[in-house]
Amino acid sequence: MFRTHFTVVLWFLCTFFPVRAKALEDREWWRHAVFYELCPRSFQDTKGTGVGDLNGITARLDYLRGLGVDALWLTPCFPSPQVDFGYDVADYRAIDPRFGTLQDFDRLVAEARRRGIRVVLDLVVNHTSDQHPWFLASRSSRRSPRRDWYVWRDGRGPGRPPCNWLSLFGGSAWTLDPVTGQYYYHYFYPQQPDLNWRNPAVRREMLDVTRWWYQRGVAGFRLDAVDTVFEDPALPDNPLLPGKNAFGDPNMVNRHNYKLQEVHGLLRDLRRAADPYGAVLLGETYTDSIPELQAYYGNGRNELQLPTGHMLAMAETLSAPEFRKRIDALEAMDAWPVWVFGNHDLARAVTRFGDGVHDDAIAKDLAALLLTLRGTPILYYGEELGMASHEPGRREDVVDPMARLGWPSAKRRDGARTPMQWDAGPAAGFTTGTPWLPVPLDAATRNVAVETGDPGSVLNFYRGLTALRRGSRALLEGDYQDLAPADPSLLCYLRRSQDEAVLVAVNLSPEPRKLDLGPALDGWPAARAKLLLGSGASGPEGGLPGELEPYGVVIVALAQEQHPVPAAAAGPAGS
Ligand code: NOJ
Repeated sequence: MFRTHFTVVLWFLCTFFPVRAKALEDREWWRHAVFYELCPRSFQDTKGTGVGDLNGITARLDYLRGLGVDALWLTPCFPSPQVDFGYDVADYRAIDPRFGTLQDFDRLVAEARRRGIRVVLDLVVNHTSDQHPWFLASRSSRRSPRRDWYVWRDGRGPGRPPCNWLSLFGGSAWTLDPVTGQYYYHYFYPQQPDLNWRNPAVRREMLDVTRWWYQRGVAGFRLDAVDTVFEDPALPDNPLLPGKNAFGDPNMVNRHNYKLQEVHGLLRDLRRAADPYGAVLLGETYTDSIPELQAYYGNGRNELQLPTGHMLAMAETLSAPEFRKRIDALEAMDAWPVWVFGNHDLARAVTRFGDGVHDDAIAKDLAALLLTLRGTPILYYGEELGMASHEPGRREDVVDPMARLGWPSAKRRDGARTPMQWDAGPAAGFTTGTPWLPVPLDAATRNVAVETGDPGSVLNFYRGLTALRRGSRALLEGDYQDLAPADPSLLCYLRRSQDEAVLVAVNLSPEPRKLDLGPALDGWPAARAKLLLGSGASGPEGGLPGELEPYGVVIVALAQEQHPVPAAAAGPAGS
């Protein structure tokens, strides 16, 4: 009998899958890259302020390289009053002193580059801070040259905003500015006034901002809130729905200020600016609709390379049929998929999908899916440790203003932004000061140092997966074939390239399950299967494991010479 063992597996990986540096050089590098989202304020503090900084990220680059990360996406680190933790930018061409200096940033980019890691920034396109000099000028007078850089309108009468649109963070989306007697529009907080992208000067300036960062070595942008950039200038009221939301506001359909088609023109402009630099554009594009997701790539692939549909992240439960449905939907799309389980706005994946008993096994299942499905994976920092959300228990402990307003249903964001857990020392090695959010109690045992020493840890499973992926043509470029096992608790698929096939089998149930793929594996002799990586899989020596333990997962290489794959099956070219 074998039980999957990390050391054996790592030996196998290093022997048969040497690192392929080539993947980092090509222009479509983002197809093969493992992206890692991190919040600078939560990753590593080097100054004892309790808030992480850029030098902290630089100090941890070797860890990230060892984890197999190819690209970092940093949540905003521009100067900001931090009302929305950086998503309220006061200067697009500088670094917030809390996080360091431009020189620190340049050093981070250079040191990352030395390790083959690219740096992607978060561009807040929809709005600025109300402290941005553009807005200060805009609000100063109706005749200000910057007036039309934002969305200003007269009210419908005393105390009546221009229309009934609501802010996502509670209350009206219009705030009356007493100085000029007009209302300005903000889809988010009043401190985040919306830019007027219909003004060509705004568009020119923001495109220049992107070029300025590309010239500094930035490898691309994650575009924040692209769905809210445009609104109907005629300001029709949105239709109301029954009931109230977490903020006590009426439910409504955001028909006239959300997902307007004009955004595609803007995405094409941003892409034209990115292409000469070989830069990538990720987009915050929540949707369950495949046609809508497909549209973000652009006709002719001239918009976002990586729109994040959050298809798996938005699944209500951990269920193989539900996951299969979502995977099939992305697979059917004529474009390169992006896989995400968590981010800084969602409760952590283990909290949403865990059962409190098998959480580590479930974290490994999610890791296996993230890193072996066809497409680009985006990890959220701490996911590789199996970190769970640590939500505040009392309203007075909440630091996210939106969560205070929408208490208790909106508290998830603090919970998912707690400090990275490095070791069992004070504040988990994150800071020598008082961390800006409390360090979760499980940090004493769930941390990088402890998990590094445990061959069966979630962290070592991630390391094994990224090493496997990096060296496997089938996983990087191969097609996807659902093996549709009869047992509805299992997800099983093949990834095949011309000379290689990898089988992934995941048991998404709390009971052991027989792994009997029967005729589905016709032509791929199970006896010749070679274990690559697994957890909770047992069976006879060699071949496929006969059983997967609760939430067990196994990844095996199949003998390729028995079943050559036709060239046309190697995945849609140019998608
Ligand atoms: C989406 C970001 O992910 C979120 O954190 C932020 O609050 C809003 N956009 C507003 O910028």
